[in-house]
Amino acid sequence: MPLEKAHIKNFRNIEEALLTFDNGFNLIIGDNRSGKTSLIEALHFLFSYRSFRTQNLQETISQHASQNFVQGIFINAAGKRIKARVERRRNNTSSVFTCDDSAITKLSNWVKHAPAMLVNSDIHQLISGSPQGRRKLLDWGVFHVEPLFEVSWKTFSRLLKQRNALLKRSPEKEVVTTWDKLFVEAAEEVTRHREMHIAKYTPVICELGKRVLGEEQIKLTYHRGWPEGVSLKETLSLTLARDTKIKNTEYGPHRADISVTIGKGSSRYFSSRGEQKLLGYIMSAAQTILLNQEKDLQCIILCDDLESELDENSSRLLIEMLATLPHPTIVTSITGAGGLYKKIDPHVFHVKHGVFSQNPSL
Ligand SMILES: Nc1ncnc2c1ncn2[C@@H]1O[C@H](COP(=O)(O)OP(=O)(O)OP(=O)(O)O)[C@@H](O)[C@H]1O
Ligand SMILES: [Mg+2]
Repeated sequence: MPLEKAHIKNFRNIEEALLTFDNGFNLIIGDNRSGKTSLIEALHFLFSYRSFRTQNLQETISQHASQNFVQGIFINAAGKRIKARVERRRNNTSSVFTCDDSAITKLSNWVKHAPAMLVNSDIHQLISGSPQGRRKLLDWGVFHVEPLFEVSWKTFSRLLKQRNALLKRSPEKEVVTTWDKLFVEAAEEVTRHREMHIAKYTPVICELGKRVLGEEQIKLTYHRGWPEGVSLKETLSLTLARDTKIKNTEYGPHRADISVTIGKGSSRYFSSRGEQKLLGYIMSAAQTILLNQEKDLQCIILCDDLESELDENSSRLLIEMLATLPHPTIVTSITGAGGLYKKIDPHVFHVKHGVFSQNPSL
């Protein structure tokens, strides 16, 4: 659902901003400490009800203020304008989230209609970091594209929690084994959805890899979360003594991972930082393309500090790739990258001390 306008009040150093976005490429230019990341964080807050910078959302309230809000006007598939608003008060630990003035109680319903893909300057960690980030990105796509995944995942998560609770009570082997039948069924369902998604996801990544990295031999290998060549049922039975000792379930789809290989080498160990960044962008963008192809849904792409640690050619290829995506994109940059953006004719904003000016020339 495209975001047409945003109204931000008392969010970090942004006292008040009223912004109208283009449905294509929006470029925010500003010096260090001007408010670029604050804007991306505020918009992300509206889409996800979370901050990627802090668990403590009170920190986002401007120092002098007692409350903040981020409000957006979205246009739905029928062309109707929808107002969403998230508000935080200093004296209250929860936020108020409304859509057309009615409280949103089920966040996943909102996220389904207004998906956002966030790409930060630490995107290289998607490749170099722990499996958690890769699982999160994979599940972002599976959640949006495979309709039954949400139910399967919720069932599996509940069973995992219950199994771990059971292990904490040092139960009889038979009790856990009976429980494991349901656990295995749910785990296999989650795995099936993820594998189906990866089969669609890989060709899109290869296509973008060709354009941005000049490399189409990108291979994704899905590791299910338990050893190859053995069933999960067998694995759980073999590791029950250990699971009981550590009071935790060691194997299952909650431990899945994706390894990425470019050419012959594992990108986690062999790719340079810049290459990992480009790969992170490619993997994120590929999910949004798939979402558009499979669900005819437009998401928004939020990129902070796009050019950081990238050379001119890599930045240019990345900018051109983002500009061809079927989604609105909001990108921040310190310099505007020496005219690299001119070719794609972006909608430009400048920001200084938290104050935004719209439509000046690049
Ligand atoms: N709660 C807050 N109230 C007021 N100001 C804040 C608050 N939190 C952070 N700031 C300030 O907001 C300013 C803008 O921060 P922001 O991270 O958005 O800058 P930026 O433009 O992304 O800079 P950089 O290019 O260095 O990443 C900083 O000076 C920061 O100290
Ligand atoms: Mg920043």
